[in-house]
Amino acid sequence: MPSLKSDYPRYLAAKRSVDDRAINERVLRRLASELRERSRDRDRSRLHVLNLGAGIGGAAARLIERDVFPAGVGVTCTLVDVREANAAAARERLPEWARAAGYDVTDLADGSGGSAGDPGDPEFRVEAESRTIDVEVRVADAFQVVEEGEWDLLVGQAFLDLFDLDEALPDLLSALEPGGLCYFPITFDGGTVFEPATDVLAPADLERAFHDHIDRSGGDSRAGRHLLTGLSREDASVLAAGSSDWVVHAHGEHEAEGSGNDGDARDIDGADDGGTADGTDASDGGYPADEELFLRFIVDTVADALADDAESELTTKTLAEWRERRHEQLDIGELVYIAHQLDVLGCVGETSPELD
Ligand SMILES: C[S@@+](CC[C@H](N)C(=O)[O-])C[C@H]1O[C@@H](n2cnc3c(N)ncnc32)[C@H](O)[C@@H]1O
Repeated sequence: MPSLKSDYPRYLAAKRSVDDRAINERVLRRLASELRERSRDRDRSRLHVLNLGAGIGGAAARLIERDVFPAGVGVTCTLVDVREANAAAARERLPEWARAAGYDVTDLADGSGGSAGDPGDPEFRVEAESRTIDVEVRVADAFQVVEEGEWDLLVGQAFLDLFDLDEALPDLLSALEPGGLCYFPITFDGGTVFEPATDVLAPADLERAFHDHIDRSGGDSRAGRHLLTGLSREDASVLAAGSSDWVVHAHGEHEAEGSGNDGDARDIDGADDGGTADGTDASDGGYPADEELFLRFIVDTVADALADDAESELTTKTLAEWRERRHEQLDIGELVYIAHQLDVLGCVGETSPELD
């Protein structure tokens, strides 16, 4: 299999079914109800959403697919990613996905005089019954974009662990108007499990080395829990939080796949969709969807990150052997991977009790 290092959008596409399975339904439903309440209370005609580190648009697609945006309110959803390749893939794949899912998609860039990616220029519109979502895709540093204006909702999926939360959170939250919402699903929270164990390297040693590396590189290996405490320091409140662990394994039935965490088997709209998040199953004994590829990327990313880190105590030889053994486990469908993550929904400058 070719290296994925040069094809990050492909990794993000492979990640989609893992995320969809992991997403915390209770937190997602709370987000939907908060948005609905706000659009009623404030008589809004438009909702401005900023998707930070949007990648190829996986989180935005889910918010559309799961009817999280309120009906009867126009939504402008700005996707921002610092990598050009991700933004290009989002521009191509998101409308493709929407059309395939049966939504009406209109190209707004045609004849508007603006070039794709100009600030404030939605590029396409997705219409889903009474929901209209105008999508803008920008290549930019999210921390610069948040300075440009006020947003009703910030969405940052698998994003916050890349930064020092103490520094990043005040900057990001300053982009929200009072009562504004922030939704940070799939926020890494300090759990990296590869099973079964190998005799090359004790799992706990690998995990500690990897998390130390994240923290040394300017990220936060326990971003999820730090977000829970950090929001209150920033005059914000946690409206809902729950686990969204990635659990990837081969073989067996995919029980309640796509139903998310907290044991609720219903979609946001109350439908029971059964099956895997993308309609595939692993009953043939392999990994579902593109998750073998996802796992290879994860193994290589961990091994490369530690091999390139001069401060890591693990030798290049040990890491090469570890990578080889994990790939062998993947080849025979033996490798299990779990990452502990949290979904957190916060609100700036307003408190409101848990609804559910
Ligand atoms: C782990 S990926 C998650 C992508 C996407 N949110 C998802 O879950 O599929 C993190 C993304 O953040 C982007 N990123 C990192 N730093 C950024 C910054 N300062 N501004 C905007 N995007 C950034 C990366 O290019 C990458 O696409």
